[in-house]
Amino acid sequence: MAASKDTGPNSTITLDSGNKIPQLGFGVYQSPAEVTERTVRIALEAGYRHIDSAQWYFNEEQVGLAVQASAFPRESVFITTKLGHADRIPELLEESVSKVDPRPDGYVDLFLIHSPSAGPEKRKEQWQALESLVDRGKAKDIGVSNYGVKHLTQMSEYSKISPAVNQIELHPWCQQPAIVSYCQAYNIALEAYSPLVQGTKASDPVLLRIAKETGKSWAQVLIRWSLQRGFIPLPKSDTKDRIIANRDVFDFELSESQMQSLNELDKDEHVCLNHTELP
Ligand SMILES: NC(=O)c1ccc[n+]([C@@H]2O[C@H](COP(=O)([O-])OP(=O)(O)OC[C@H]3O[C@@H](n4cnc5c(N)ncnc54)[C@H](OP(=O)(O)O)[C@@H]3O)[C@@H](O)[C@H]2O)c1
Repeated sequence: MAASKDTGPNSTITLDSGNKIPQLGFGVYQSPAEVTERTVRIALEAGYRHIDSAQWYFNEEQVGLAVQASAFPRESVFITTKLGHADRIPELLEESVSKVDPRPDGYVDLFLIHSPSAGPEKRKEQWQALESLVDRGKAKDIGVSNYGVKHLTQMSEYSKISPAVNQIELHPWCQQPAIVSYCQAYNIALEAYSPLVQGTKASDPVLLRIAKETGKSWAQVLIRWSLQRGFIPLPKSDTKDRIIANRDVFDFELSESQMQSLNELDKDEHVCLNHTELP
């Protein structure tokens, strides 16, 4: 998987399939359905071209509506959603596709299994249903989320298509080195969720020192750290000024020593429930 030469908001990473994913994404977890359409419209106007939704977020339809109402062609926007259920899998996959892109030939760019929590048998069923979605042209790429090394190893025994990405919690306080090394070795792109640590580290002295040194906000420093680590960060905001500021992360670079200071903060500290150790 290679990063593009473009160093701006449109920079991409090439997935195993050859498809490109914009490296800076935009998350809509906890974005209430009644505000998501507006938020996504603002994000698109601000330059984001990659939106991360899920069945569990109850706003897939609003993401789709924002893209349809925008001036941007469907093909120019990368949309991810996630399967959150272990029953009625094929129907729920189809439902999500038609919420995100209701055209007869509608598709999602990336469909993930949200969590390994359904257990080994159901995970296999979920993956095979996703492979069938790819075969039918309704998903361009498929992947997983919250998978640990054990889950990834297990699925390598039955997957015909390797997961394009693993979306996990990643920020300086939660760097998950074993999963990151495994994914890098097998060309599985790493998407960083909760890249802003949900705002809980806004007063961290190391972060504030680097923000001061770079003249950037703590949030911009965290997104920049993620980009420089080669991850695909998915910052979320429903606030216009923050949406715009979180995109302005391509006009500065963290030095090696600033990266090192942030890398040294790892404490395996999660802000979301950690599913990577589930059976
Ligand atoms: N696969 C999974 O299991 C999973 C789990 C969690 C998250 N995710 C994905 O990752 C995305 C991001 O993670 P997240 O939503 O947990 O948290 P996050 O992006 O780390 O943080 C979002 C929080 O930070 C605030 N914020 C955003 N920009 C800010 C700024 N510039 N200054 C100050 N505060 C700022 C937001 O507030 P406002 O909205 O009020 O501006 C919101 O409360 C999700 O939306 C979702 O797409 C996936």
